[in-house]
Amino acid sequence: MKIARTVADVREHLREPRQRGERIGLVPTMGALHAGHRSLLDAARAEFEVVVMSLFVNPSQFDAADDLARYPRDEAADAAVAAEAGVNLLFAPDAAELFPPGFDTWVDPGELGDVLEGAARPGHFRGVATVCTKLFSIVGPDAAYFGEKDAQQVAVIRQVVRDLDLPLEIVAMPTVREASGLALSSRNRFLSTDQRSTALALPRALEAGRRAHESGADPVRAARAVLDAEAGLSVDYVEVAEFGAPTLVAAIRVGATRLIDNVRLDR
Ligand code: PAJ
Repeated sequence: MKIARTVADVREHLREPRQRGERIGLVPTMGALHAGHRSLLDAARAEFEVVVMSLFVNPSQFDAADDLARYPRDEAADAAVAAEAGVNLLFAPDAAELFPPGFDTWVDPGELGDVLEGAARPGHFRGVATVCTKLFSIVGPDAAYFGEKDAQQVAVIRQVVRDLDLPLEIVAMPTVREASGLALSSRNRFLSTDQRSTALALPRALEAGRRAHESGADPVRAARAVLDAEAGLSVDYVEVAEFGAPTLVAAIRVGATRLIDNVRLDR
């Protein structure tokens, strides 16, 4: 596995494979890799000759400085996971490479970026949309892989690709969960043992909502009832969103940790 630190390095590494007609799959990440990321890498590996993974904790998508500061960083561990998954090129730039002094051109996803996660984290999706557009431009992939865990992010990226006529396919992979039902997330490590069992109300609530919907009842009400019955958490939102397909989305806080999850209602 090669490691590139600069935009010029990436383009240089990909020049010959591209000339040979090899196709490229991109997996954007912020590191702290777990089995959810691994599922994206495996899917890209199965489909493409060249797999590129980006590892970049994007400052522009964090609205709170303390959230950015406490984001877990372990490049050596992440590089080992990437190599093991068969990644050909790891792009791990520093912040100044992608956002140098004077950087001031943004991709703003409009209304879709202002609701739900966007309302809770102002500017978040502008940061996500901008960095992903840059990564698409730098790597020039045939496809990029994202997780359904972040359903609104997938919807934002699809909108950007459509609105800006970007020549790549967006592939969304199912959410990888623990046996308990909890969706894997880099934030789970901040939960104490008690908080972790409290957090299990989130997947339980979504499942209750999905079943309610299946039997013709209100999914939001059913999910809310489960969350309201659990002490030790507060609900940010529970809603049905039209993210390409009707999706029951929820965000909760357990102590200082904010967790999001969702379930499709059309499956
Ligand atoms: P990050 O949180 O590192 O996630 C990278 C990718 O892994 C995202 O597409 C995310 O949806 C996916 N993912 C996370 N947990 C998952 C799970 N349990 N199952 C399946 N996929 C999962 O999302 C980002 O980084 C950033 O916003 C990024 C797109 C890299 C832009 O900076």
